[in-house]
Amino acid sequence: MKSARKGAIVVYAVAIAMLLLVAVGCQSQKRGAAPMLGEAEAVSAKEIKEANKEETKKVSKLYDFEPEPLTVAQCAQCHITVFEDIKKQGGKHQLDCVRCHTQFHMFNPKKRPYETVIPKCETCHGVFHGKGTKTVRLTNCASCHADPHAPLIIPSAEIENACSSCHKKEAKQIKKHASKHTTEVACVDCHADKHGFIPECNACHESHSPDIDPNDSTSCMVCHPVHMPTKIVYGVETSSTICAGCHGEAYDLLQKNRTKHTELTCAKCHDVHKKIPDCGDCHGIPHSKTMMHDTSKCGDCHGTAHNLPS
Ligand code: HEC
Ligand code: HEC
Ligand code: HEC
Ligand code: HEC
Ligand code: HEC
Ligand code: HEC
Ligand code: HEC
Ligand code: HEC
Ligand code: HEC
Ligand code: HEC
Ligand code: HEC
Ligand code: HEC
Repeated sequence: MKSARKGAIVVYAVAIAMLLLVAVGCQSQKRGAAPMLGEAEAVSAKEIKEANKEETKKVSKLYDFEPEPLTVAQCAQCHITVFEDIKKQGGKHQLDCVRCHTQFHMFNPKKRPYETVIPKCETCHGVFHGKGTKTVRLTNCASCHADPHAPLIIPSAEIENACSSCHKKEAKQIKKHASKHTTEVACVDCHADKHGFIPECNACHESHSPDIDPNDSTSCMVCHPVHMPTKIVYGVETSSTICAGCHGEAYDLLQKNRTKHTELTCAKCHDVHKKIPDCGDCHGIPHSKTMMHDTSKCGDCHGTAHNLPS
C-alpha cells in the first residue's frame, strides 16, 4: 500500500515535469525560459531521491523497460521551428540532431553558460577556411554561418570585404592584371545579391560587334577572361567581322583587294592583339638575293599586307 502510493507520487511528479517541459517548449523557444526547467527539475529530483531509497529492487510495470534515445521526430515535436529550418534550408546539415547536440537540456545560466552546451563547428570541420588574416578572421564561424540549422544562408554584409581571404587565386589575378575591373568595379558589384552569384556581361556592357551575342557572356570571355579583361586572347579562327567592329578601315581595305590575303582571318596574321607580323614569318625568304638587291623591304614592291597590288 505504502510503496504503491509512493510509486504513484513518482509517476505524478514525472508527468508534471514532462508537462512543464512541453508547455515551456511550446510557448517559447527562447533561452530565457530555461529557469522554469530548473524549478521543475528541483521538484522531481527531491521526490525521486526519496522514492529511490526504498524502490531500488521492485520495478513497476510502467518502468520495466530501457528507454530508447530520442529520435529526430521526437526532438521535432517540441522544437518544431528548428526542425522546419533544417528541413527547408539545412542542406547537408540534415543530420540526426544528437550527432551535433551530444549534450542538450543542459543549459543553466548559473552553472553552465550557453556557450559550453552548444556544438562546436570545429569538432567536425576543423578550422575549415584557415585562420584568415589580421583584418578578416575566419575562425568565428557563426559570424558568417549565422544559423547552424541553415549553414549556407550567409548574410552578404558579413563577407563583403572578406572575398580575397578565401578566393586568393581570383584576387591575385585581378590585382596583378590591373584593369578597370580592378579599379572601377568591386567584387560585390559583379557578384551581387548573394554569395556565388555570377553576373552576365550585358548587365553593364553592350557588345562592340554585331557578331557577338551580347547575351552570351561566354562568347565575351573567349577574348576577355573576366578577372583580367584586358589580357585579350583569341583563336586564329576568330571571325574577322568581330575585329571589323573596331577596325573598319583595315577590314574594308582587305575586302576590296581580293588577294589571297583576303581569305585569311585577321587573327591568322595578328595572333596576339596589336601584334604586327613580319612578312617573313610566313613567307620566309621568297626571292633571290639579286631580286632583293636594291631593297630589303617587301612593301616597296608589294604595298601593305592589307593592300597587295595585283
Ligand atoms: C518534451 C519537449 C522536448 C523534447 C522532446 C526535446 N526538447 Fe529540447 N528543449 C525543450 C525545452 C522546453 C527547452 C528549453 C527552452 C528552449 O530553450 O527552447 C529545450 C532546450 C533545448 C536546447 C537549448 C540548449 C539547452 O541545452 O537547454 C537544445 C540544444 C535542445 N533543447 C535540443 C534538443 C534535442 C537535440 C532534442 C532531441 C534529442 C530535444 N531537445 C528534445 C523541450 C524539448
Ligand atoms: C550541424 C549541427 C547541428 C544539428 C544537426 C542540429 N543542431 Fe541545433 N544547434 C546547433 C548549434 C551550433 C546551435 C547553437 C546556435 C546558437 O549559437 O545559438 C544549436 C542550437 C539549437 C537550439 C537552441 C537555439 C535555437 O535555435 O532554438 C535548439 C533548440 C536546437 N539546436 C535544436 C536542434 C534540433 C531539435 C535538431 C534536430 C532537428 C538540431 N538542433 C540539429 C547545431 C546543430
Ligand atoms: C557533428 C558534426 C558537425 C558539426 C558539429 C557541424 N557540422 Fe557542418 N557538416 C557536417 C557534415 C557531415 C556535413 C556534410 C559534409 C559533406 O557531405 O561534405 C556538413 C556540411 C556543412 C556545410 C555545407 C552545407 C551544404 O549544404 O553544403 C556547412 C556550410 C557547414 N557544415 C558549416 C558548419 C558550421 C558553421 C558549423 C557550426 C555551427 C557546423 N557545420 C557544425 C557535420 C557537422
Ligand atoms: C567570413 C565569413 C565566413 C566565416 C568566418 C566562415 N565561413 Fe564557412 N563559408 C563561408 C562562405 C561564403 C562559404 C561558401 C558558401 C557557399 O558555397 O555558398 C562557406 C562554406 C563553408 C563550408 C562548406 C564548403 C563547401 O565546399 O560546401 C563549410 C563546411 C564551412 N564553410 C565551415 C566553416 C567553419 C567550420 C567555419 C569556422 C571555423 C567557417 N566556415 C567560417 C563563409 C565563412
Ligand atoms: C570564408 C570563405 C569565403 C568567403 C569569405 C567568400 N567565399 Fe566565395 N566561396 C567559398 C567557398 C567554400 C565556395 C564554394 C566552393 C568552391 O567552389 O570553391 C565559394 C564559391 C564562390 C563562387 C563560385 C560559385 C560558383 O557557382 O562556382 C563565387 C563566384 C564566389 N564564391 C564569390 C565570392 C565573393 C565575391 C566573395 C566576397 C563577397 C566571396 N565569395 C567570399 C568561400 C568563400
Ligand atoms: C566585372 C565583374 C566581376 C568582378 C569585378 C569580379 N568577378 Fe569574379 N567572376 C565574374 C564572372 C563573370 C565569373 C564567371 C567566370 C567564368 O564562368 O569563367 C566570375 C567567377 C568568379 C569565381 C568562380 C571561379 C571559378 O573558377 O569557379 C570566383 C571565386 C570569383 N569570381 C571571385 C571574385 C573575387 C574574389 C573578385 C574580387 C577580387 C571578383 N570575383 C571580381 C565576374 C566578376
Ligand atoms: C557590374 C558591372 C560590370 C559587369 C557585370 C562587367 N563589367 Fe566590364 N566593366 C565595368 C566597368 C564599370 C568598366 C569600366 C568602364 C568601361 O570601360 O565601360 C568595365 C570595363 C571593362 C573592360 C575594359 C577594361 C579596361 O581596363 O579597359 C572590358 C574589356 C570589360 N569590362 C569586359 C567585361 C566582360 C567581358 C564582362 C562579362 C564577363 C564584364 N565586363 C562584366 C563593369 C562591368
Ligand atoms: C574576338 C575577341 C573579342 C570578343 C569576343 C569580345 N571582345 Fe571586347 N574587346 C576586344 C578587343 C581586342 C578590345 C580592345 C582592347 C584594347 O583597347 O586594347 C575589346 C575591348 C572591349 C571593351 C573596352 C571598351 C571598348 O569598347 O573599347 C569592352 C567593355 C568589351 N570589349 C566588352 C566586350 C563584351 C561585353 C563582349 C561580349 C559581348 C566582348 N567584349 C567580346 C576583343 C573582343
Ligand atoms: C596577311 C596578314 C594580315 C592579315 C590577314 C591582316 N593583317 Fe593587319 N597587318 C598586317 C601587317 C603585316 C601589318 C603592318 C602593315 C604592313 O606592313 O602591311 C598590319 C597592320 C594592321 C593594323 C595597323 C594599322 C593599319 O591599318 O595598317 C591594323 C589595325 C590591322 N592590321 C588590323 C587588321 C584587321 C582588322 C584585319 C582583318 C580584317 C587584318 N589586319 C588582317 C598583316 C595582316
Ligand atoms: C573593341 C574594339 C577592338 C576590337 C574588337 C579589336 N581591336 Fe584591335 N585595337 C583596338 C584598339 C583600341 C587598339 C589600339 C589603337 C591604337 O593604338 O591606335 C587596337 C590595336 C590593334 C592593332 C595594332 C595597331 C597598330 O597601329 O599598331 C592590331 C594589329 C589590331 N588591333 C588587330 C585586331 C584584330 C586582329 C582584332 C580581331 C581579332 C581586333 N584588333 C579587335 C580595338 C579593338
Ligand atoms: C600569317 C602568315 C602571313 C603573313 C604574315 C604574310 N602573308 Fe602573304 N600570304 C600568306 C598566305 C597563306 C598566302 C597565300 C599563299 C598561297 O596560297 O600559296 C599569302 C600570299 C601572299 C602573296 C601572293 C598574293 C596573291 O594573291 O597571290 C603575296 C605577294 C604576299 N603574300 C606578300 C606578303 C607580304 C608582303 C607580307 C608582309 C607585308 C605578307 N605576305 C605577310 C600568309 C602570310
Ligand atoms: C623588288 C621587288 C620585290 C621585293 C622587294 C619583294 N618582292 Fe615579292 N614579288 C615580286 C614580284 C615581281 C613577284 C611576282 C609577281 C607576281 O607573280 O605577281 C613577287 C611575288 C611574291 C610572292 C608570291 C609568290 C607566288 O608564288 O605567288 C610572295 C609570297 C612574295 N613575293 C613575297 C615577298 C616578300 C615576303 C618580300 C619581302 C621579304 C618580297 N616579296 C619582296 C617583287 C618583289
